[in-house]
Amino acid sequence: MDKFYYITTPIYYPSAKPHMGHAYSSIIADFFARFKKIDGFKVHFLTGTDEHGLKIQRAAEKKGIDTLDFCNEISQTFRNLSKTLNLTNTDFIRTTEDRHKKTVQHLWTELVNNGDIYLSKYSGWYSVSDEAFYNDDEIEEHDGKKIAISSKSTVEWMDEESYFFKLSKWEKPLLDFYKNNPDFISPESRKNEVISFVKNGLKDLSVSRKSFSWGIKVPEDNNHVIYVWLDALTNYISALNYPDKKEKLFKQFWPASLHLIGKDILRFHAIYWPAFLLAAKIELPKKVYGHGWILSDDEKMSKSKGNILDPLEIIEQYGLDPLRYYLIKEVSFGNDGNISQDRLEDCINSDLANNFGNLCQRVTAFTIKNCDSKIPTEIEFSKDDLNILDKYKNNIDEIRNKIDKQDLNYYIEYIVNSLFEANKYFNDQEPWKKKDDKKRLNTIVFTSLEIVRKISFMLYPIIPESSLKALAIFDIKEDQIKFSSIADNNFLKKGNSINSIGLLFKKIEKKND
Ligand code: ME8
Ligand code: MG
Repeated sequence: MDKFYYITTPIYYPSAKPHMGHAYSSIIADFFARFKKIDGFKVHFLTGTDEHGLKIQRAAEKKGIDTLDFCNEISQTFRNLSKTLNLTNTDFIRTTEDRHKKTVQHLWTELVNNGDIYLSKYSGWYSVSDEAFYNDDEIEEHDGKKIAISSKSTVEWMDEESYFFKLSKWEKPLLDFYKNNPDFISPESRKNEVISFVKNGLKDLSVSRKSFSWGIKVPEDNNHVIYVWLDALTNYISALNYPDKKEKLFKQFWPASLHLIGKDILRFHAIYWPAFLLAAKIELPKKVYGHGWILSDDEKMSKSKGNILDPLEIIEQYGLDPLRYYLIKEVSFGNDGNISQDRLEDCINSDLANNFGNLCQRVTAFTIKNCDSKIPTEIEFSKDDLNILDKYKNNIDEIRNKIDKQDLNYYIEYIVNSLFEANKYFNDQEPWKKKDDKKRLNTIVFTSLEIVRKISFMLYPIIPESSLKALAIFDIKEDQIKFSSIADNNFLKKGNSINSIGLLFKKIEKKND
């Protein structure tokens, strides 16, 4: 039976070119997509750009270009970044596409038909930067300006006719849903924030704007455009061609397995989105995970703060896989994390060059020299060999479990430990002293090669290109990587030749050393 996995990133605002925070979410999503793929799932992986609303309209005005032209240009830089990051996304959606507009208008009509929308007047605070409404108790004054406490962005007073969504009606059903689906909001710490916000009482939500035009029109009332968050969130189903009944994508992939987002937009995904879906009688996604922020000098990296590390420059300088590895290893997943070029260099030198790269090099060099470049045939595992080999089999369910809890920290730690153990095994076994005991030498070599293979399988979701380079030792191709075969101690074909490979990671000469 086919197993399906649907993962999404936020759709990013093309108000400025992508930065490290965007790259981070996308790389993490790609990790899960690749892991699930090698674990036998059919994976749908969606990313894209969120192009409507006042924020984008103003950004285009500032540049003095037509709004759609502006979106076309910047959306393309996000699409290019997906390629540069080696993402396995199966779709890239833009909210200015017709397929999306159709779904949003359909959803709106469903909400109207179900009695969840009414016309009234909104007066209150609005942040264009966040495209969010704030209550009085959520704003403060700073240098004579009103700002939102949570995001520090400027708010402006809004006073206009608006359609409302009856969010208040869904307060109790939402609380019941959180209770019955304790994994819906992750990590746990953020779940409590959401629940207490809902318990404090939900006000009906303004879901249309009349004072500007850059958006999807309200069906039946073209003076209004639909609120950009109702528009944006719907991307997760418009990309599956909802409501087309003949469409297989929706049947197979909805409800989504995981909406991966940053904690800044948790409220939209954990409250508004499920409320819209409940009102439209659509099944709710299985999980929303709000990860932490990438910080630079302890501040959130963001376009508006100008403290951005440019992912393209970093990749240009160090390569993609070091960046992917570093972000996954160094930022404790779920929490905020500072990143720096200095720590990135340390990570390349210690983990990638010294641990993984070195393991691959020494084991293959030894095999080439002492085993005629062949995977040994005459072997007999000892307790020591089985001890290190069987660990993978013994932990396979635990690893899967941790992945289903998005425990990336466990996964990366598992790899770091495995690399350490593997190098230690090779040292301790001293195969270079076993030239008189060919069978023992062969067994150590075989065991070490199997470990290189297993670890490379596990590294594939993190550093796909380098993992494939390492697997070229055995002529193993991408479609042969199956997570389940880390349990196999005899995966490699005995007697086959191995290939020498070039340097996997160049060590960085550090200025301060
Ligand atoms: O909010 N650290 O788009 P956006 C980690 N269009 N992740 C970060 C980050 C940082 N410093 N900065 C940004 C929007 N991100 C809406 C989303 S979804 C239906 C609509 C990542 O361009 C993180 O995933 O502001 C965050 O949630 C997202 O980019 C916000 O991107
Ligand atoms: Mg933002």
